[in-house]
Amino acid sequence: MAGDERLVKSKPEHDAIREEIAKLRAMGPQDAAYDARFMQLMREVMHHVADEETVLLPTAERALASQLSELGMRMTKRRMQLVAQHRPTATAANTVGTFPLASLAVMSLGALAIVHCLRAADARRVGRHT
Ligand SMILES: [Fe+2]
Repeated sequence: MAGDERLVKSKPEHDAIREEIAKLRAMGPQDAAYDARFMQLMREVMHHVADEETVLLPTAERALASQLSELGMRMTKRRMQLVAQHRPTATAANTVGTFPLASLAVMSLGALAIVHCLRAADARRVGRHT
């Protein structure tokens, strides 16, 4: 299965990306080779992400269909814990930037739905008391 192959490749690719980031940080942007290495890393990360989004994640979505809601909640909770541990402003900006546009739209609709429900509940509560 393509998803399984992708999963096997994923860990060594993550390790290689982390190693390259560490090398770039160690050398600094003043190094003559920095830009070329940075661009190569960027191409590799884009390829990696494209593979994950087109192969791995759809496979996982099908295999874990009944658990997606629970997993989403756990991942969001963990993400918020990690955000709270780091610089709030920069991390929040980075977090927003990592969400696909569709996710932001869904979260916005969810926030609107929550506001609507709260207002409706408030209206019902006020209506009972008057
Ligand atoms: Fe990845």
